[in-house]
Amino acid sequence: MAFASIVVDQLNRDQAVAELLRLAKELAHHDHCYYHLAAPEISDAMYDALYQRNLAIERRFPDLRRIDSPTHRIGATPSPEFEKVKHRKPMLSLDNAFSMDDIYDFMARVRRFLKLPEDAKIQCMAEPKIDGLSATLHYQKGQFILGATRGDGQEGENITPNLRTIHDIPLVLQGDDVPENLEVRGEVYMSKSDFDALNQARVDAGEQPFANPRNAAAGSLRLLDSSVTAKRPLRFFAYGYESLSNQMDQTQADILVSLNRLGFRVSPLVALCPNEDTMLEHYGFIESQRADLPYEIDGVVFKVNDLALQARLGTVGRSPRHSIAYKFSAEQAETIIDFIDIQVGRTGVLTPVAHLRPVLVGGVTVSRATLHNDDEIRRKDVRVGDTVIVQRAGDVIPQVVGVVKAKRLADSVPFAFPTTCPVCNSAVVQSLGQVARRCSGGFNCMAQAVERLRHFVSRDAFDIDGLGERHLQNFFEWEIVRTPPDLFTLESRNLNVNLEAREGWGAKAVTNLFDALNKRRKIGLDRFIYGLGIPQIGQVTARTLAVYLKTIESVLTASVEDLCALDGIGENMADEIIQFFAAPDNRGIIDELMKHITVESVVAMAPSDSLFSGKTVVFTGTLEKLSRAEAKAQAERLGAHVSGSVSKKTDFVVVGADAGKKLAQATELGVTTLTEDEWISMASQ
Ligand code: IVH
Repeated sequence: MAFASIVVDQLNRDQAVAELLRLAKELAHHDHCYYHLAAPEISDAMYDALYQRNLAIERRFPDLRRIDSPTHRIGATPSPEFEKVKHRKPMLSLDNAFSMDDIYDFMARVRRFLKLPEDAKIQCMAEPKIDGLSATLHYQKGQFILGATRGDGQEGENITPNLRTIHDIPLVLQGDDVPENLEVRGEVYMSKSDFDALNQARVDAGEQPFANPRNAAAGSLRLLDSSVTAKRPLRFFAYGYESLSNQMDQTQADILVSLNRLGFRVSPLVALCPNEDTMLEHYGFIESQRADLPYEIDGVVFKVNDLALQARLGTVGRSPRHSIAYKFSAEQAETIIDFIDIQVGRTGVLTPVAHLRPVLVGGVTVSRATLHNDDEIRRKDVRVGDTVIVQRAGDVIPQVVGVVKAKRLADSVPFAFPTTCPVCNSAVVQSLGQVARRCSGGFNCMAQAVERLRHFVSRDAFDIDGLGERHLQNFFEWEIVRTPPDLFTLESRNLNVNLEAREGWGAKAVTNLFDALNKRRKIGLDRFIYGLGIPQIGQVTARTLAVYLKTIESVLTASVEDLCALDGIGENMADEIIQFFAAPDNRGIIDELMKHITVESVVAMAPSDSLFSGKTVVFTGTLEKLSRAEAKAQAERLGAHVSGSVSKKTDFVVVGADAGKKLAQATELGVTTLTEDEWISMASQ
């Protein structure tokens, strides 16, 4: 290189620019050789000389420091908080399988959706499911420019400085064929031995040890001071990418090869499986290796290998239809129940919780387990003082599997489920045909009121920071906030309430709270609906209601039929929604809320230039090429709303073979009809 021989002090600005570019590339190449290929081309001393030269040039020209400079590996100055990053493509989660049957069912579902015969061959990639945290890494022109956590799947946190400290993450992509724009996805984790060493050091230093490698990795990644992260031995396995420019690969197998070529580590335990038997065989193989692996895994992920099929399969809710995680079976341990406590949830449901002598289950100390409901307690005959088997699988709440009857105490008595709410003393009721018992106290029950408020302010609902359970409990006890609208009148009542003088609050905290609340006086309809805490209505359904019904008024007045016409809403859910809005308490709260906030409509995230965007489509008759499920998914991807019945509001009826009544109705109402082929060609435009 032309300027490599010029001493740093004598470089001019242009020469420094060229040198920093050369050094970033060269050092990235040597990092790759050392960390990725385990085949260094130069000595450590030579590497160090290059590194020091790079550092010296940056010190002379601080403004020329490159985004891909290796000096970022040591971390940056602490940041006050993490910025939010909206993911360009959502970060989904995987559906779980727990048995071989679940895997056969998964493959059958895939074939049915694609309208393939039952014996059609579909290849799947099997990959170990690394037990860490997912991260997404943005590369532009080969440079690592931004990295984020998964967050809620739509929006994560910018943790770029922390991710830059991980040597498995290339700062510059390797190879000649580097795409313009690439988002690499994978798992950040800590190895078992690094975890043990870190915990030992923490104990020696009088610090709290981490519960497991996953928590240690999470804790290390979310440090505001990345120079501390740099000292934590984090690692990264890549398992996929989202290409924002042209599609490079045709299969998941190709993706893994590409990722490896670009400089990422890919698990060596992956295998391409031609059928269900080989999938299960490979699952068995990975499970047999589990204990000896240097890092923790919690299952095997199966992915349909062909990316064109993956695209057709699409997503349902927050999970892709093309992949599934087959979890290893739960780990179990034996312990004693000290007492049984009844928790009252947001909707008043009473859940019995067993308080246990602490016991280690698969590396995590468990001291509580759910007993689900009264039926379960009676079926298993679980009693206080019993020795029980508890199990824990992944993130699932630990469960009591059964009682070791041989160890039962002579004086034990069956558990008596309370007939009044342990929190507010209201009567406990049980709806016909339901196992759950509920407290009838509504907002007068502190547990329900507080849980509903907690849900209302939670991240996916009104997202109001700084209001934890303790604060909300105090609010209830001080009789200053009982229902969500009370939050929005708090500021105007504060002359009497005098929040800043109360325990746990100061002037600054109060100002912050009022600011946070005022920012939410405008809210999207989806968050509003979700925040109400209607039983069974999660984020996905709330969004569906918001997108298709558009205003709060039409949500409040929707009939069972209106609701059932929407994707993902069945009769059961529709009933629940209608019952919720029929309750005077809930109606009162909504009316009161509307006095203080503005609810904004939300738009579907579909291409607005699509021919079908915002239209209502009905499919009828037997389709030959597409399964109903795929046709429906296609329509929804294009921003259309699929309905089961033809009316004046219908825009298109897609007619398959042997269509009957609906075709006749369409003709009568003058609705446009399309053949299956016409639909396919229009939908693919
Ligand atoms: S594919 C659709 N492959 O498991 C989501 N995930 O619930 C794409 N994980 O958040 C994920 N190893 O953090 C995939 N080989 C692997 C994985 C893997 C671990 C994690 C990932 C994801 C979670 C899925």
